[in-house]
Amino acid sequence: MKAEIKKIEAQPFLRWAGSKKKILPQLSEYHGKDYKRYVEPFVGSASLFFKLNPKRAILGDINKDLISTYREIKYRLPGVSRELGKLKKGKRRYYQLRKLDEAILTPAQRAARFIYLNRFCFNGLYRTNMKGLFNVPYGGKKAGNIPSNDALSSCAKALKKVRLVSGDFAKTIECVKSGDFVYMDPPFFVEDRRVFKEYSGSIFQKSDLTRLKKWMDKLNKRKIDFVVSYAKCKEAEILGEGYIKKTVKVRRSIAGFSDKRRHSKEYIITNIRRSLRQ
Ligand SMILES: C[S@@+](CC[C@H](N)C(=O)[O-])C[C@H]1O[C@@H](n2cnc3c(N)ncnc32)[C@H](O)[C@@H]1O
Repeated sequence: MKAEIKKIEAQPFLRWAGSKKKILPQLSEYHGKDYKRYVEPFVGSASLFFKLNPKRAILGDINKDLISTYREIKYRLPGVSRELGKLKKGKRRYYQLRKLDEAILTPAQRAARFIYLNRFCFNGLYRTNMKGLFNVPYGGKKAGNIPSNDALSSCAKALKKVRLVSGDFAKTIECVKSGDFVYMDPPFFVEDRRVFKEYSGSIFQKSDLTRLKKWMDKLNKRKIDFVVSYAKCKEAEILGEGYIKKTVKVRRSIAGFSDKRRHSKEYIITNIRRSLRQ
């Protein structure tokens, strides 16, 4: 007999540094219009995508393991669930899995390993060493849980309407057509502060920020609506030039101290000039 799948709302199944979970209500307001597609070139855990559940979407990220995991969930969820079901919780198992050579794994095993390491690693970080091997330490017993089959099924359903792009943000933005909505949440490039910047082995540089601004201007010229999230800092002033900027307060944990929280300020930068909540 087939197990019954409970219908639950799709939600991010990964923990992700810089996730926009805390400001989803503010961000959702910008997506009021009936857009043809939702496009997100720095997708991470896809918190806004899952919240909006758009009818069609393009999601991209430079982290190829992340995009491969979304692909496996989208096309071959039963295989991933089977592999996840075999994985026991615990520190020993975490380190065994972390040191496994990915090359010997099937795509479903790779996706299960990615989800497992993400759920149980320290602070949900993604960091690799010089050889490109994941090296985040175990996060402790309370670090997380493996997402349920029902939760992953809802995500698989939401991902069915999605085209996935693995690579630099320009590759995703090049797919944008008239009538699309673009949400961009790049890693923060901040020179004078310790901010988490690594997601894929490559670091978001000042030159990437300049490229991003050029893409924003191109989209604007084509009358394509976009929203950008960025830390409130002097670098963001360049991104905001010519657009509407709003400051939002975000409560975040301080990396390394799960019991310590602070409020930081982020910008929402947009070219959408109509009044919101349409
Ligand atoms: C702040 S996170 C996005 C978080 C996401 N909004 C969420 O709610 O989970 C930034 C993402 O950008 C990706 N990234 C970094 N550099 C990139 C690049 N050059 N092109 C595309 N994606 C990039 C990282 O892998 C990371 O997933």
